[in-house]
Amino acid sequence: MTDRPTTTTDAGIVAPSDEFSQSVGPNGPLLLQDHYVIQKMAQFNRERVPERVVHAKGGAAHGVLKITEDVSQYTKADLFQPGRETPMFLRFSTVAGELGFPDTVRDPRGFAIKFYTREGNYDLVGNNTPIFFIRDPSQFSDFIHSQKRRADTHLHDHDMQWDFWTGTPASAHQVTFLMSDRGTPKTWRNMNGFGSHTFMWINRGGEKFWVKYHFKTDQGIENFTGSEAAAMTAEDRDYHIRDLHEAIKSGNHPSWTLEMQIMPFEAAADYRFNPFDLTKVWPHGDYPAIPIGTMTLNRNPDNYFAEVEQAAFEPANFVPGIAASPDKMLQGRLFSYPDTHRHRIGTNYLQLPVNRPAVPVHSYNKDGAMRYDNPGDPVYAPNTYGGPVADPSPFADESYGVTGEIVRSAYRLHAEDDDFGQPGTLYREVLSETDREHLAANIVDHMTSDGPVGDALRPKVIEYWTNVDPDLGARVSKGVNGS
Ligand code: NDP
Ligand code: HEM
Repeated sequence: MTDRPTTTTDAGIVAPSDEFSQSVGPNGPLLLQDHYVIQKMAQFNRERVPERVVHAKGGAAHGVLKITEDVSQYTKADLFQPGRETPMFLRFSTVAGELGFPDTVRDPRGFAIKFYTREGNYDLVGNNTPIFFIRDPSQFSDFIHSQKRRADTHLHDHDMQWDFWTGTPASAHQVTFLMSDRGTPKTWRNMNGFGSHTFMWINRGGEKFWVKYHFKTDQGIENFTGSEAAAMTAEDRDYHIRDLHEAIKSGNHPSWTLEMQIMPFEAAADYRFNPFDLTKVWPHGDYPAIPIGTMTLNRNPDNYFAEVEQAAFEPANFVPGIAASPDKMLQGRLFSYPDTHRHRIGTNYLQLPVNRPAVPVHSYNKDGAMRYDNPGDPVYAPNTYGGPVADPSPFADESYGVTGEIVRSAYRLHAEDDDFGQPGTLYREVLSETDREHLAANIVDHMTSDGPVGDALRPKVIEYWTNVDPDLGARVSKGVNGS
């Protein structure tokens, strides 16, 4: 006998064998009464939940957010009070590929955080870029379809991607980031993360502010060039997940400095850019980024499926002191995530350990598949039998006035709103000459590979880049057409 535990069925009954099915004699047919083997096979057939419809491939780690500065004049949220340490979980991902896709392809990277605060879960579901491809959620499924596979060949197709992008000039800023070397980060540890949207903060006195979150890597930004990324894709498809796991395992805990941009509530109305447009940043010259704390990843998951695959982030999880802005993309996402979780994981996904808040839950929601922590009587509100009672007071100051006709419309333009100004500034004023060379080369490489951009679309792509900057348009034209 060894001190190893005995295998059991899932009902806890001792298993008869780890190797042999029950048969009629050594060479005879198998028996339906062998419940143990049937359970093994049936359970195996149900091992997968649907993969995420986007951001399927990823990795994650646990950690802590520590607030080092005093921003209590801007928010009453407990997790942002001075000195507070809040446990958190961060999942990184690529966007377009499936579960087995390589980590090092050109794509934005997801940067999804769940903070287990003393006031319930606060989720900040961002990317490694401060902006996005579209500004209205009605375009999201069309955009993603163009990033996925064709209906006929089931292949990715760059002609389809550029067709969508050039038909949607709002994409220009994000596509400039994506085609630069920041589209192929060297590791997850070497990239920044952004909340991307504008959110509302509310302080104890009821004052409101608009804010943006920036997580700046303490490891320094490092990217692969296009050819280095391609080489790594061939060498190790799981390079990023391996890198994060090994760094944390060896005690090399990656960290990010959380910096906030904070805009007075009243300044939004006539700011030079629409501050809620997800395709725009707030230039730092207007709203400097203020460091407020450090986020450190210090523990690998023990079980990938339980913790990472079943993690369910939802931008609608706000705690008192933080609220949504009128960003149309954010508004769309408030609906989309819990809806997909109910489909992908199941109605009671919030009871799973990785999703469960660190505070007690007193909800009137009940029953449903696989629920184990079910509320007792009374099962309705209002009641006179001692059931939980809601408290509107923490949210009283979130309100703000909105009026208008019901329309289907683009955002009202602010003084300097256009699609190409900010990517042009990035190209001319932020990128180095080497960055610009790599950007043009990456665009040309992308246009001429994997379902290359056809002759009909090429002039439109060159016009798109000429609108960002004439010099960039000329470089792309030269790379693609030779002139
Ligand atoms: P700043 O010069 O104050 O900031 C430039 C920003 O760009 C920094 O945040 C920098 O931070 C980041 N950056 C540096 N190199 C690159 C690169 N190769 N690719 C992408 N980002 C880079 O200028 P402004 O705030 O006035 O912004 C100018 C342009 O910079 C914007 O139009 C936008 O395209 C880009 N940008 C702006 C950000 C913002 O929130 N204001 C954030 C990121 C980019 P870091 O290197 O640490 O990422
Ligand atoms: C994942 C929808 C825009 C970041 C997802 C998922 C859906 C979705 C359905 C899969 C979730 C799951 O199965 O667990 C949408 C819609 C959007 C939108 C409808 C626009 C209207 C954005 C934007 C960002 C973003 C703007 C970043 C700023 C992410 C991230 C994940 C994700 C990081 C992966 C979360 C994880 O690690 O589990 N999105 N998305 N999405 N999305 Fe979005």
